[in-house]
Amino acid sequence: MPEYDFGGQVAFVTGAAHGQGESHAQHYAKHGADVVVTDIGHNVETVPYDLGTGDELEATADLVEEEGQEALAIEMDVRDESQVEAAVEEAVDQFGRIDILANNAGIGSMAETTEMDEATWDEMIDTNLKGVWLAAKHVGKHFIDRGDGGKIVSTSSAAGAIGLPGQGHYVAAKHGVIGLTKTLALELAEYDVNVNCIGPTGIDTPMISGFTEAYGEETLGEMAEMTGPWNVFGDGGMIDSKDISEAYLWLSSDAARYVTGIYLPVDAGFLAK
Ligand SMILES: NC(=O)c1ccc[n+]([C@@H]2O[C@H](COP(=O)([O-])OP(=O)(O)OC[C@H]3O[C@@H](n4cnc5c(N)ncnc54)[C@H](O)[C@@H]3O)[C@@H](O)[C@H]2O)c1
Repeated sequence: MPEYDFGGQVAFVTGAAHGQGESHAQHYAKHGADVVVTDIGHNVETVPYDLGTGDELEATADLVEEEGQEALAIEMDVRDESQVEAAVEEAVDQFGRIDILANNAGIGSMAETTEMDEATWDEMIDTNLKGVWLAAKHVGKHFIDRGDGGKIVSTSSAAGAIGLPGQGHYVAAKHGVIGLTKTLALELAEYDVNVNCIGPTGIDTPMISGFTEAYGEETLGEMAEMTGPWNVFGDGGMIDSKDISEAYLWLSSDAARYVTGIYLPVDAGFLAK
């Protein structure tokens, strides 16, 4: 594992109660950062599986502390600008600064585009696209005010680069994250802020297990029939959250100081096919 030194830095992670966000928080702490862990902490109407809970968020904070770093847990809905603004303020009050935004929170749901109801579309775009913008807006303003640079890393998806049946809203949001990333990279370059996004393939998290339980194993099978396997290695299965955390660490580090505005697939060859 490469060594990074985030000593004295503060990472702000959205969607940190479980899944990839929990892993990102733990990885930042392992490499010396204090971590603000945030999550909605309850379920939402159009998502048919369990989102993170307040208890899980506290458990992520415990993982950060077990690495010897300070943690601050805040229940925050990325769709709500006043909550995002207040959480950024609370983090800056407590730690004096934020250095890294890990823009990870997201939801999954499924409907044919011509059959999708408005609530399902809106909740997806509000969470997976507007939420990414709101966190980048408020942490970005903090970076500009502080005048000392910063890193924004967001989670797009392999679905940010292709179409996927039943996923019109998710695909639109994840393509949107790439456009937003490129634009923010240009706008924030003069403030020494790097802005990038990552495109994971299928990752073994509560999102995927909940999605499979809700829509049936065959749904993912049907998608895989159209797209081919999510992983060209081994048995073609899901990869681990820690593989995405590694990309987060690199893009948050000075090793990647001349990397900005990119979409980095961590997709086990999915898009190479
Ligand atoms: N799992 C995959 O296969 C996969 C693949 C590519 C991209 N992604 C993306 O990776 C990111 C993390 O997904 P995951 O697999 O860890 O999912 P997950 O469901 O396991 O975790 C997502 C977390 O985000 C939180 N969240 C959801 N809505 C929120 C809101 N409005 N405000 C704050 N927090 C909210 C949830 O409570 C949950 O803790 C998402 O952006 C997802 O779209 C996932």
